[in-house]
Amino acid sequence: MEIINPDIEKYIDEHTTSESPVLQKINRETHLYELMPRMLSGHVQGRFLSMISKMISPGYILEIGTYTGYSALCLAEGLTKKGQLHTIDINEELKEKNRRSFNDAGYGDQIIQHIGNALEIIPKLDFPFDLVFIDADKGNYLKYYQLVLESLRPGALILADNVLWSGKVLNENGEKIDKDTQAIIDFNEYVQQDKRVENVLVSIRDGLFLIRKL
Ligand SMILES: C[S@@+](CC[C@H](N)C(=O)[O-])C[C@H]1O[C@@H](n2cnc3c(N)ncnc32)[C@H](O)[C@@H]1O
Repeated sequence: MEIINPDIEKYIDEHTTSESPVLQKINRETHLYELMPRMLSGHVQGRFLSMISKMISPGYILEIGTYTGYSALCLAEGLTKKGQLHTIDINEELKEKNRRSFNDAGYGDQIIQHIGNALEIIPKLDFPFDLVFIDADKGNYLKYYQLVLESLRPGALILADNVLWSGKVLNENGEKIDKDTQAIIDFNEYVQQDKRVENVLVSIRDGLFLIRKL
């Protein structure tokens, strides 16, 4: 399902600040060489992540799901001078290429890569995160949220990507729901009922949840 009218998408794209040359390169090469380039946040969502990060100037950011490093670099744009972004991915293949992109963009010292299962790595990261971006396997969204929420300070933000899941969360056809769709539906419901946070679901791209700890 196309969530937003393609002409409106184009208009939005044309009225959003351009990507940096490094981000343009990652975007182009991800589409040329990687499987599932749709996983990349892309131009408009990338600028949105950057804007949010610049608005809160985080000292520590946690990203769950690095892929080709696009969203990591967008979020890093708002870091304080000595700030750090910790990004986790289970796939080691892109690690070296991502490191070169982070260095080229001038964030080499501030972005720390972790390779492995995020469920095992998150409990070992003892940093006062101001911003968390959940963008890995959909089946574990709720676990990631539960793992990080308690340790966050009031006012800290969690962003979660793909929470409209191409519109499948509506289950309009009444078909049997697949596991990932059910996981996203359960996650969205849990957040909506959670009294510890306030939240807004933004219809950018595939749906981005903005969740603020109270
Ligand atoms: C949607 S992509 C991330 C896209 C990236 N955040 C961006 O916007 O450019 C999801 C990534 O999560 C990773 N992933 C999946 N399961 C994971 C797990 N259990 N732990 C850590 N990373 C995982 C995948 O390898 C993939 O690179």
